Amino acid sequence: SSLSSLSSPCKPKNSSRRLPDIIIIGVRKGGTRALIEMLSLNDGVAAADSEVHFFDWESHFQRGLSWYASQMPCSRRGQLTVEKTPAYFTSAKVPDRVLQMNPSVRLLLIVRDPVERVLSDYTQVFHNHLQKHKQPQPIETLLLQDDGRLNLSYKALNRSLYHTHMQRWLDAFPRQSFHVVDGDALIREPLEEMRKVENFLHLEPQISAENFYFNRTKGFYCLRDRQGSERCLHSSKGRAHPQVAPEILQKLREYFHQPNQNFFQLVGRTFDWNR
Ligand code: A3P
Repeated sequence: SSLSSLSSPCKPKNSSRRLPDIIIIGVRKGGTRALIEMLSLNDGVAAADSEVHFFDWESHFQRGLSWYASQMPCSRRGQLTVEKTPAYFTSAKVPDRVLQMNPSVRLLLIVRDPVERVLSDYTQVFHNHLQKHKQPQPIETLLLQDDGRLNLSYKALNRSLYHTHMQRWLDAFPRQSFHVVDGDALIREPLEEMRKVENFLHLEPQISAENFYFNRTKGFYCLRDRQGSERCLHSSKGRAHPQVAPEILQKLREYFHQPNQNFFQLVGRTFDWNR
């Protein structure tokens, strides 16, 4: 409704809603929620709660920057404002629009093994279908054509072609505007990965080992904030993936091999995806 888009005033009074200094641009299923939650452990950051979809949804973009600012959290003087909308990474018109807003915005991209990302993407859609009482399709049906070759029109494959999307972003912004977070490493060693993020953002390093504890039931690290309260990410984060036949996994690995090389070249860094 129009009422819900009216921004509420900020308390305390010396805080305000400001356009983001940092945007987590993606990638979908890369660990974007974990990243923004972990970043919020640093007191120098104010994070938006939900995905704003300002630059990729026309109906939002038309409302203009003042609307966008109204969707941001209250931040105190000196705090950095961050929002995450993973769809930005793969949406063609977004980089130029972000550039128009602020050419010195800092961009965070979290990526993980593109094959894992496809399985995670599938799992997300699978659960969305169940929720809407729609029959989910088996992953093999989506991944393969009748002739047994990969079905390249399956959108989840395209979203894992990181180099094509990254190239578009690099056409708009210099490499120094980006920090690439290793999403696989963030799962295993969140502290190490978050220190690099704090460093890139020139934040006072505040995130420490105290902020993380491993939850065996969930199988992931959960967060402990400065007040000592503990929480894990939502149950939709860290879900089991479908079992896929080794031959299909092999096809996926082969398909992503060269695109991965291209991405490593673009960002000047390798990841262990081409084992
Ligand atoms: P899976 O659910 O497929 O394992 P996004 O927030 O971008 O949708 O990414 C979701 C992914 O974040 C999860 O994918 C999970 O692997 C990853 N993740 C990283 N750190 C996590 C954590 N501490 N708790 C839960 N999920 C985490």
